[in-house]
Amino acid sequence: MFKEGLLKGKRILVTGGGTGLGKEIAARYLQLGAELWICGRRGGVLEAAAKELTGRHGGSVRTHAVDIRDAAAVDAMVQRIWDETGPITGLVNNAAGNFISPTKDLSPNGFNAIANIVFHGTFYVTHAVGRRWIADGIKGSVISIVVTWVHTGSPYVVPSAMSKAGVHVMTKSLAVEWGRYGIRLNAVAPGPFPTEGATKRLRPGGRFEDESQMNPMRRVGRTEELQNLVTFLMADGCEWLTGETIAIDGAGYLGTGAAAYYLELDKLTDADWERMRALIKAQNDKDRAGRSA
Ligand code: HXC
Repeated sequence: MFKEGLLKGKRILVTGGGTGLGKEIAARYLQLGAELWICGRRGGVLEAAAKELTGRHGGSVRTHAVDIRDAAAVDAMVQRIWDETGPITGLVNNAAGNFISPTKDLSPNGFNAIANIVFHGTFYVTHAVGRRWIADGIKGSVISIVVTWVHTGSPYVVPSAMSKAGVHVMTKSLAVEWGRYGIRLNAVAPGPFPTEGATKRLRPGGRFEDESQMNPMRRVGRTEELQNLVTFLMADGCEWLTGETIAIDGAGYLGTGAAAYYLELDKLTDADWERMRALIKAQNDKDRAGRSA
């Protein structure tokens, strides 16, 4: 779909680039000639991803272990990037956290675990990069991965829905404020693209594919479709396109809104939720164990 070397000369940071959709986005950018930085909380996972990606596509993938909830650590990462390889030209805000839970059962800590990553962390990275772009006169591009519930809201994932809606509004706000510097910001709102992180926390014990009949196109997303969209947005040629959030969901949110799957959750008993919580906890524990690596 895109010509070889399309992204040559671009240097791109993908947050949460060691796993899931972030890794796939990084892979396509690398394949098209960009130099990559990927960051995430688990150093070992990042190293393995960098090795895998360069093994597949060659090129350069550098890593930086960071928790984007920590603003000072984010700033230190961005300064390291500037010092070691020079300014990035593109940023993909992909890192996120989420799990399903009845909102009445959330603790303040549970709310913050998500809001601090998605709402605060995304701002910290965008701010650390954007202010350097403005100082250096660089016309950078930001793509934030949100979700279609920025339009519909969504029950049982309220901290994520609120936080992603904030990122959607940040995209519009900064597109205007930073437009005069040539900096553009867009967002992509994917419907279900099954990854391990999302499946284990949002469909514990189940699969996104099981609900594909509810989608107007009767299927879930294909990774390459998302890769193509973020490539189009990152490439040169449409610099006037800014401040937009583009859904890629087979018209899912227009067809069924937030209701289709989540109404099913209304039927769950307390015991069902206990079971879900245990499955989500097992995934969180597994991920946490890798963070010291
Ligand atoms: C209620 C829960 C819970 C659950 C955790 N908590 N899981 N509460 N139900 N299932 C509470 C804990 O009890 C604790 O509060 C607080 O959250 C922090 O939990 P930790 O496990 O210590 O947090 P941490 O290790 O920092 O992990 C952060 C995380 C985790 C967000 C909870 O899920 C994570 O790291 N996720 C990253 C990857 C990810 O989520 N990927 C999916 C993204 S999908 P207390 O009060 O007990 O201390 C996505 C959109 C997809 O973003 C859209 C598809 C359509």
